Amino acid sequence: MVPSTANKDFLIAEAHAKINLHLEVLGIRSDGFHELAMVMQSINLSDKLKLIKSADNNITLKSNNKEISNGKDNLIIKAANLLRNEVGNTQLGVDIELQKNIPIGAGLAGGSTDAAATLVGLNKLWGLNLKTEELENLSKEIGSDIPFCISGGRQICFGRGEVLEKLKIDHFQLGLILVKDPSIQVSTPVAYKTYKEKYGDSYLEHDRDFEIKRNSLRSNDWSDRALFTNRKEIQNDLQKCVRPMTPEVEKSLNILSRLPYSRLVSMSGSGPSCFALFQSYDQAKKVFNENVNEFKRAGLSAWVCSMMSNGVQLRNEFT
Ligand code: C5P
Repeated sequence: MVPSTANKDFLIAEAHAKINLHLEVLGIRSDGFHELAMVMQSINLSDKLKLIKSADNNITLKSNNKEISNGKDNLIIKAANLLRNEVGNTQLGVDIELQKNIPIGAGLAGGSTDAAATLVGLNKLWGLNLKTEELENLSKEIGSDIPFCISGGRQICFGRGEVLEKLKIDHFQLGLILVKDPSIQVSTPVAYKTYKEKYGDSYLEHDRDFEIKRNSLRSNDWSDRALFTNRKEIQNDLQKCVRPMTPEVEKSLNILSRLPYSRLVSMSGSGPSCFALFQSYDQAKKVFNENVNEFKRAGLSAWVCSMMSNGVQLRNEFT
């Protein structure tokens, strides 16, 4: 929520990364996308966007990361233009400053969550009053993971990833250690293409078969307790094809599996970032501190994170 004393000329939008607690490829759709059944989870690794109302009608972007394009191909600019066109007011302008903390091409929805933050932030800054559902619906035009990132938390996601069923869980105690080899990125389209080449023959074809899979996901207990105590593994179908062709993923999964108290270990999204779950944030933090040198020796960037019950958060000052 934005404090009532908010400076009306700028807002800070905090954009959280996500991990996948389940990623199952069901089949291929007529639009060429994959039909998915997933559980996504927001984590407290976040980018920050400063959205400054502009006197002219320009939409500009600058960031602290030279690898990021500041042009029309950036999802942030796409999201701002999409919103402005939706409300039919081309006079609206904004200068956006992005503080990028989420690694790029990592399977953590870094680009999608920035787009989500742009939509939520500009809806407020420009006084548009669109409902969350309207923003979610609009956002799916430019990316499959953006609707989830808007309200985040822990949600079941179907379709391309944009059909959301929010789980009624608001207490999260699990902690995680996340690692990524900074020397590589994985292209999501390439990961899906490779998966299709390898497993396309076994894709389900009928919606009734998709629905059986969806119901099975719905009937699972996705609470922290059930995840941690009952589950044998986290299913990420893309891991089956990305792991064999990416030694950095193999290395990451091996290191995480060997950590004391680590329970479930998986790649996130299309990778290459990988994570291990721990019973609590404190336990994850302790193991993280004791293994910082191990991650360094292996050439991995590493973070200790907690799980978030929400998506984009708005504030009116940098903290
Ligand atoms: O929607 P988004 O831009 O995130 O998707 C990136 C690419 O990943 C798509 O162009 C497509 O190649 C692949 N993809 C897919 N099925 C999905 C989501 C993504 O094949 N459900």
